[in-house]
Amino acid sequence: MPKHIVRLLMLIGGALALGLAAKWYFTDPSFYRYGFYRADSVAEIAAQGPAFKTARYCESCHAERLAQWSAANHKTVTCETCHGAAQDHPQKKAKLPIPADAVKLCTLCHEAIAGRPRAQPQVVVAQHAGAQQCVACHNPHAPKLAGVVAKVSGDVAAGGKKHAASCASCHGANAISPNDTWPNLAGQNAAYLVRILAAYKSGAQTDVMMSPMAKTLSDAEIQDLAAYYAGLSCKAPPGAPAAGDAAAGKLLAKNCAGCHGETGVTRNAAWPHIAGQKSVYLANTLKAFRAGLRKDPMMAGVARGLSDADIANLAAFYAAQSCGPATETRKTQ
Ligand code: HEC
Ligand code: HEC
Ligand code: HEC
Ligand code: HEC
Ligand code: HEC
Ligand code: HEC
Repeated sequence: MPKHIVRLLMLIGGALALGLAAKWYFTDPSFYRYGFYRADSVAEIAAQGPAFKTARYCESCHAERLAQWSAANHKTVTCETCHGAAQDHPQKKAKLPIPADAVKLCTLCHEAIAGRPRAQPQVVVAQHAGAQQCVACHNPHAPKLAGVVAKVSGDVAAGGKKHAASCASCHGANAISPNDTWPNLAGQNAAYLVRILAAYKSGAQTDVMMSPMAKTLSDAEIQDLAAYYAGLSCKAPPGAPAAGDAAAGKLLAKNCAGCHGETGVTRNAAWPHIAGQKSVYLANTLKAFRAGLRKDPMMAGVARGLSDADIANLAAFYAAQSCGPATETRKTQ
């Protein structure tokens, strides 16, 4: 065959292959799925199941999440708004995505925008969260952070002081603990003390030493003890030097300031002060949150990303902070 004919055939063949490849690449996979005429598809589309299943569908398998979500104020936001349509989940191996970028998700509804109705809670993201992921502090299934402030109506003189005698062997005569492993209680928020003692008593929180102690306390005794300890001076002699680097801890502590204050003195009465707390206790507690041994929806998100070194540095920083001015001005209730 003459050379120029071969070239011509090759050119035509090449153009054909290119055309077919382009057709394959640019044609939407759904094209022609329902035949040539749109009307043909009506019956087929009508026979499809709904893409959205509603929250009730999740109950049989994710009961814990559903319970948390229904009790909180995101219950107006359905599961599938954040996780996508559950149509084939979990059958047919359809994985429902966990939103990777919470900032992108949460700002859809919560970023302050001029004209957005006030009824929808809003934040100025840069001031509020900095570069952090929203889920570092907020549990997406129960996002409200205010904390439940337990009522404290204890009797300091009659009850608190008397009961505290049985606690002094471990927590110290003035509620400043004699070693680095056990926590100081002096000057702690009363509402937090009530909540945490009730948690030890109910078994929601456990510790080999504290659980048996708390189980013997009545609700009234817990109130008395909380009122008594909250009123004591938190000033403590300096403990043994902490293992971590306080300067490095200070940088990390920016992530905690929203809830625990700049230096570990919180403004929220339901939450604990951590300034001046024992360093080993702080480190052990953070590790317990990280491992899920101590449960709190807020601290779980925070502690998850911390390395052992981060924890040592944070503990060193907070242990070295002044536990605050006189307890009178520190009181948050
Ligand atoms: C019949 C049981 C069942 C139902 C109903 C169900 N799920 Fe799941 N879901 C699973 C199982 C099993 C997994 C873990 C396997 C997987 O990742 O696919 C899972 C995983 C997930 C994950 C990803 C978790 C991870 O760690 O990767 C999300 C998110 C999720 N489900 C949300 C939902 C939502 C929202 C609903 C309701 C609209 C729902 N599921 C209904 C069984 C179910
Ligand atoms: C406001 C958005 C939002 C809503 C509403 C929501 N989720 Fe989630 N969900 C998330 C985010 C964000 C994560 C990832 C959390 C993280 O990284 O800490 C997640 C994680 C999960 C996970 C896997 C990880 C885990 O913590 O177990 C499951 C399962 C899940 N959600 C189920 C549900 C179910 C069921 C509902 C409804 C009852 C629901 N979600 C409603 C945003 C949401
Ligand atoms: C689809 C819109 C939507 C998305 C997405 C959404 N939220 Fe919400 N969120 C709401 C609405 C609506 C409320 C108010 C519910 C009510 O009436 O109490 C709310 C309430 C809250 C509150 C409680 C405010 C208060 O003090 O009462 C916080 C905190 C919050 N959301 C954080 C988040 C975070 C963090 C995310 C991302 C994981 C997120 N939201 C995603 C709509 C949304
Ligand atoms: C460092 C922890 C932290 C991070 C990260 C964080 N928040 Fe918050 N957020 C808080 C605290 C603490 C409050 C309670 C504020 C108060 O009571 O003064 C709050 C309150 C809110 C409220 C309620 C505001 C109101 O007016 O009632 C919304 C909405 C909210 N956050 C959304 C977000 C969104 C969206 C993100 C991610 C862009 C985010 N938050 C990241 C700590 C955090
Ligand atoms: C045998 C030693 C021991 C005795 C006695 C004891 N405690 Fe404790 N207590 C501990 C230890 C250890 C912890 C830390 C537990 C942990 O890491 O979870 C603790 C923790 C606490 C906490 C939580 C502090 C915080 O900051 O979260 C409170 C409150 C408390 N004790 C109150 C009491 C009271 C009130 C009594 C007396 C009725 C008492 N304890 C008796 C050892 C003891
Ligand atoms: C979104 C709010 C929030 C943020 C952010 C936060 N915490 Fe907490 N933290 C809490 C709450 C609430 C508790 C009480 C938990 C409980 O009741 O078990 C707590 C408890 C603790 C405790 C135990 C105190 C005690 O007396 O037992 C330590 C230690 C602690 N946080 C350290 C940190 C550190 C370090 C960071 C930053 C890396 C941090 N927290 C960030 C809310 C927060």
